Amino acid sequence: MLSAEKNKILTQVSAGTPMGDYLRRYWHPIAGASEFDKTPIKAVRLMGEDLTLYKDLNGTYGLVDRHCAHRRADMSYGFVEQTGIRCNYHGWRYDESGACIEQPYEDTAHPNTRLKERCSIKAYPVKEVAGLLWTYMGPQPIPEMPIWEPFTWENGFREVVLSDVPCNWFQCQENSCDPVHFEWMHDNWSMRLKGKSGPYAAKHLAVKFEEFDYGFLYKRIREGASEQDPYWTTGRVCLWPNGFYLGSHFEWRVPIDDENTLSVAWFFMRVPKGREPYVQKSVPTWFSPIQDQTGRWISSHVMNQDFIAWVGQGRIADRTKESLAASDRGIAMIRKRLFDDIEAMQRGEDVKGTIRSANMASCVELPYYEKNILREGIKLEEYKNYPLMVGRLSAFRHLAGQPPEIRAAFVDAFGLHGTPYEQEARVTG
Ligand code: FES
Ligand SMILES: [Fe+2]
Repeated sequence: MLSAEKNKILTQVSAGTPMGDYLRRYWHPIAGASEFDKTPIKAVRLMGEDLTLYKDLNGTYGLVDRHCAHRRADMSYGFVEQTGIRCNYHGWRYDESGACIEQPYEDTAHPNTRLKERCSIKAYPVKEVAGLLWTYMGPQPIPEMPIWEPFTWENGFREVVLSDVPCNWFQCQENSCDPVHFEWMHDNWSMRLKGKSGPYAAKHLAVKFEEFDYGFLYKRIREGASEQDPYWTTGRVCLWPNGFYLGSHFEWRVPIDDENTLSVAWFFMRVPKGREPYVQKSVPTWFSPIQDQTGRWISSHVMNQDFIAWVGQGRIADRTKESLAASDRGIAMIRKRLFDDIEAMQRGEDVKGTIRSANMASCVELPYYEKNILREGIKLEEYKNYPLMVGRLSAFRHLAGQPPEIRAAFVDAFGLHGTPYEQEARVTG
């Protein structure tokens, strides 16, 4: 149980709040780069700020204020030029640094005015890495953006899936350090949703949590497993400060504002040996709906089940009313680290996991126990030995609504035509 004051610190994300300032010390994924192939401008809201994300005709990305410095028109209805974005109201043009670089009437009729110099707008840097667009909204000096090792893997089919989740970011992130929910929310509930009544999945017998540079590891022993089990020896990564890493995919919970979160998920599946080299021209991005036609949350896919837990806790979970148990030790640890690290930030120190060396940031490894499959690949026949991986061949099980053309591209890349995996997808996809 937390005080109302501490709950506010964890959940308020606007600039000037402790957590708002803290989260601004990290790079965050905010969109899929391929979204900009069709529509070069997107309205985005991040940490309570209304912004415009665009790709100009030179291919440069910009993240600037939603409103024009002239008379405040909505820049997300502007249009891109060779360089920069132009407001659709009177044609003022801005570049990715937010500088006003053209004022058509003033430039023509009053060419000596220096008005432009006073008309820059807010702008944040944007980087494209692994098919995702990333931004940093904090103070200088800008830290290096960690290139997580999976972003460097080759011969992979990657995809980006975005969902709007109507609740605060931190209850989503607490789920990244919560091993026991797997047994109930995913294993047992999925079994019951399929109309079966049992048997229930192996129970958790022990959990433990360890901190490392880039987050926390959670480890578990379930019935039938030993202390040699990789779930106990290696564990899973709760990625600091708002991510989750599970070997072949990442999830981030990016605050839109205090009551909304952008779920960003990045998936990697290495094509089987014999299908290489595989070069994916563009990483597809798709939006996963979270509600069905009746307004109920979708429960058929793993991450959708998580979303139901998150939104079920309310727009902002009321931690003054919770009852933490031994299974929640990891959650208590990440809260404590956040409070301590906010204090460190306020003393002027770098926040947890900050990287200041470009060399170090260029490939940052994270623990995962079956990395070789993803780094080096296996034959299609070998997938049956890897229960978590083989499921991915048959259907995309993480989020509802994968567009059929992305499934088709996956089947092509993996050479699944005429195999049982293709068949099963048609039935359950
Ligand atoms: S409001 Fe944007 S150019 Fe006038
Ligand atoms: Fe989950």
